[in-house]
Formats: sequence, structure tokens, C-alpha cells
Amino acid sequence: MSPFHLTRTLPEDTTGAALRADVREGLTGSPKTLPPKWFYDARGSELFEEITALPEYYPTRCEREILRARADGIAEASGARTLVELGSGSSEKTRYLIDALTDLRAYVPVDVSESALTRAGQALAAERPGLDVHALIADFTARLVLPATPGPRLVAFLGGTIGNLLPAERAAFLASVRALLTPGDALLLGTDLVKDEEVLVRAYDDAAGVTAAFNKNVLSVINRELGADFDPGAFDHVAVWDAGREWIEMRLRSRTAQTVKIPALGLVVDFAAGEDLRTEVSAKFRQDGVRTELASAGLELTRWWTDEERRFALSLSTAR
Ligand code: SAH
Ligand code: AVI
Repeated sequence: MSPFHLTRTLPEDTTGAALRADVREGLTGSPKTLPPKWFYDARGSELFEEITALPEYYPTRCEREILRARADGIAEASGARTLVELGSGSSEKTRYLIDALTDLRAYVPVDVSESALTRAGQALAAERPGLDVHALIADFTARLVLPATPGPRLVAFLGGTIGNLLPAERAAFLASVRALLTPGDALLLGTDLVKDEEVLVRAYDDAAGVTAAFNKNVLSVINRELGADFDPGAFDHVAVWDAGREWIEMRLRSRTAQTVKIPALGLVVDFAAGEDLRTEVSAKFRQDGVRTELASAGLELTRWWTDEERRFALSLSTAR
């Protein structure tokens, strides 16, 4: 069994304070919004894993196909001795990289979900003797302080999670990743690609209703953490494609005119019948856009791989 360390990079109440600030700002603004990172309590992380196995949800399968085919090439190009993974979740697909990186000494998964990190980190430490697993409970949009592990580093950001950041957040995020890289390090980025609207909407509105349950889970998080009285059954799950901005929006649509109390904030929030609360954007990309966004952050796209059907892409980039 390898060493497994779990480090909370922020005091526990910082998370509570951030949730309170995000909920106050998001539910008093117009239109109402919430940042997607609050989906991922233990139940939300479980629901996300269920989503990844749905027939309609292609991104995980496509990215796995690319990793299975290309892990050796990625490993050869990177030669990493430390693999840092942002938003690592179950770390399931990461095993292709871990197996291919022959000089790998340390794996540093970074996530807000303590349950996902502990489960995945402990399993990997048990499976891979000799690999130092150093998990960080941290917000990847905040300034990250990484443990002192051997270079070169490969920073992986898989799953298309970059698409859950708004354009300005993406720019700030990529600049902060660039600041982590020293010569010889690289970024491996997963991006979901623009495609047929019907395929996209089905991926975010599956027949079994798992994505709907995932979406509504954010209301349960706010009920539990802030004593709110959201009735998840009083909202409908909605997924819409915004063709202009090339992103899917997940929303919760109030079925009736209703009032929700959030005691921890001393806040009462009115919803009109049919009013939407935006809970997530999931941007879809084109190669030129990815290259341009990386370049604006001082990164140069050096490799680009897609699955056979060109639904999803992995790119490798280095500091310019
Ligand atoms: N990379 C995995 C999981 C993707 S789900 C995969 O490809 O399957 C998105 C993950 O990012 C979740 O585990 C969630 O807890 C985490 N996450 C979301 N926002 C985050 C943030 N701001 N900081 C750190 N982790 C975050
Ligand atoms: C984590 N992220 C890339 C997922 C996505 O596809 O945007 C989250 C998700 N939302 C609904 N289904 C999956």
C-alpha cells in the first residue's frame, strides 16, 4: 500500500462562507444562477458517476476511448513524474495515464468533493504500490499550492469540466494553470466538442432522469447546509442549447409562484411561475477556440486527439 495523504487547503468554514456568498449573490440576482461546484456533495458525486454510465452521456466514453488509445503517446510526450489532476472525481479514466507514465512517482488529485477524493485516493494508493497519492480538497479556481513532488508535472483537467466555467472564469483559470507550469511541464485538457443539438440535449436530459436528480441535488445541498426549504419536486429540470454561445444550460424551472426561505442568510427568495434558475453551463468547443483560449493564457497547443466520431477532444499544451 502506498502513502495516502489528504490535505484540506482551506479552513472548513471557508467552504460554508463561499456557499453562503454564492447563494446570496446568485439568488438575489436576475436571472437567478448558482455555480455548478455546489452539485458535488457525496450524493452529487455519486449521481455524476451514474451519469457517466448513461447511454445518452457520451463524453466519458469518448474521453476513455481517447485515453485508452493515446495514453502511451501522452506519457511519452510528457515524461511526468507527478500527475496533478484537477476535478479528479472518481479518477477512473486517470488509470490509463497512471499506467502509461512509467516514471510516475506522485499523483495529486484535486477536488472539492471530499468523499470522491477519499474513495478514489485510497483505492489508488492500495492498487499502485510505490505511488505517492497526495489528495487536495481545494477549489481549482482559487490559487493552488501544490505539494513538493518531483517534476516534470503533467496537469490533467479531464471530463470537459473546463466547459462548466464561464468564459471570463476560463481565462482566469487557464492563466492560473499556466502559472503552475515550469519548463518541461504540460497541461492535458479534455474538451467536449460542438455537435448536433439533439445529441447534446439528450446527454443533459436523459430518459432515466439521473441528470434531473443531479441538477436538483443542489437544492438539497442548500437545504442541508443553509437550512433552506426548497422543495425539489416544485422545480422541473431543463436542458437547453444556446447556439450563439455554444453551451448547454441546465436550469431548474419553478413550476409555480413560490417563496423559499434560507434562514442561514436571513433571505426569502420569490420565484415566479416558470422562472428559471441557471445551475450550470457546459460549453462545447472547436479546435480553433481551444487553441486561442490557451494562447491567451500563454499556453501553446502541441497535440490534439479526438475519438473516432470526433465528439470529444484531448489536447496537450505547454507554456510558451
Ligand atoms: N474528472 C472526472 C470528474 C468530472 S465531474 C471525470 O472526468 O469523470 C467534475 C468534478 O470536478 C467533480 O468531482 C467535482 O467535485 C469537481 N469540481 C467541480 N468544481 C470544482 C472546483 N471549483 N474546484 C475543485 N473541484 C471541482
Ligand atoms: C463535470 N462536467 C463536465 C459535466 C458536464 O457534462 O458538463 C457535468 C454534468 N452536468 C450534467 N451532466 C453532467
